[in-house]
Amino acid sequence: MTILVTGGAGYIGSVTVEALRHAGSRVAVVDNLSRGHRAAVAAEVPFYEGDVRDSTLIRRIVEEQHIEACVHFAALTYVGESVQEPDRYYANNVGATVNLLDALTTAGVRRFVFSSTCATYGEPLRVPLDESHPQHPENPYGWTKFFVERELELFEANYGLRFAALRYFNAAGAIAARGEDHTPESHLIPLCLQVALGQRQGLTVFGQDYDTADGSCIRDYVHVQDLADAHLAALDHLAGGGSSQFLNLGTGRGWSVLEVIEAARRITGHEIPLEVGSRRAGDASSLVADASQASSELGWCARIPDLQDIVASAWTWHRAHPDGYGKHQ
Ligand SMILES: NC(=O)c1ccc[n+]([C@@H]2O[C@H](COP(=O)([O-])OP(=O)(O)OC[C@H]3O[C@@H](n4cnc5c(N)ncnc54)[C@H](O)[C@@H]3O)[C@@H](O)[C@H]2O)c1
Repeated sequence: MTILVTGGAGYIGSVTVEALRHAGSRVAVVDNLSRGHRAAVAAEVPFYEGDVRDSTLIRRIVEEQHIEACVHFAALTYVGESVQEPDRYYANNVGATVNLLDALTTAGVRRFVFSSTCATYGEPLRVPLDESHPQHPENPYGWTKFFVERELELFEANYGLRFAALRYFNAAGAIAARGEDHTPESHLIPLCLQVALGQRQGLTVFGQDYDTADGSCIRDYVHVQDLADAHLAALDHLAGGGSSQFLNLGTGRGWSVLEVIEAARRITGHEIPLEVGSRRAGDASSLVADASQASSELGWCARIPDLQDIVASAWTWHRAHPDGYGKHQ
């Protein structure tokens, strides 16, 4: 069986491709390289540079590679950008996924793992969040993921699709050969490490007046290898006839922005100057997962839950790849 990985040249996708290969699965990648890197995908993996909106291409890949399941990472992923350009986000994230689902189910592929997000919950009513928490996204990015979740239910009801919608909390960390290289970078840990590498002067903490112990936002950081493992477990679950699922992926432990910066200071040995700015629209105060359902349904739990280990793995990668995958890749 071959797994089609969309967005496999991106951060989480490229790590998952490696995990699948390591587990002995055959993989093919489609990515339009709008945000990804060709060098993040091993040369021996069949790679299709193209857009998931191209139904003809998707049907061709399914036929050429004998695709039986799809893991769909491809999306635009910046909350702030989604506020500026919501139409682009709806087209690329919702419209494209409907096209992809249509092309896949028409070609007979009915197992699908989807990258959803804790951003579908909005401001939490209670923490930790379990999957029954009401979903009311605070920004267009979160809404695009919410609408895809509803599309998945429709494709299940009408076309027999079975899916796992995995609601990641904050992906972080790296493996030896794959790490986080986003342009522009907006994620806290790589921003800290870029300061430590002398590539930035300092960073801004957006709001220190939240109702948390130190006033900064709290997030649940989940190691990218753990996320990749969850995708393998979800694919096994679906291949074994398991039912469709919406599942949180997190560690159950939150860390404040200031705690993350402190961890980065300790690990890098660099001062990481910061200034406190105003709150950003759409930032929830505290997002921490109750991931017990992923444990009961998939047998999954985070194996690298400690922030120190997560930041240290990212630092190892950033030091070895100070320019990421390189400007032109
Ligand atoms: N990084 C996180 O903390 C996080 C948290 C929750 C959910 N997610 C979701 O996980 C997925 C992967 O996130 P990431 O951080 O690896 O992002 P990323 O930007 O590194 O990877 C996304 C990849 O998709 C590709 N892509 C985008 N639109 C495409 C299209 N229309 N056709 C083909 N390729 C396309 C990009 O070129 C890129 O390689 C995304 O769906 C994101 O919304 C990420």
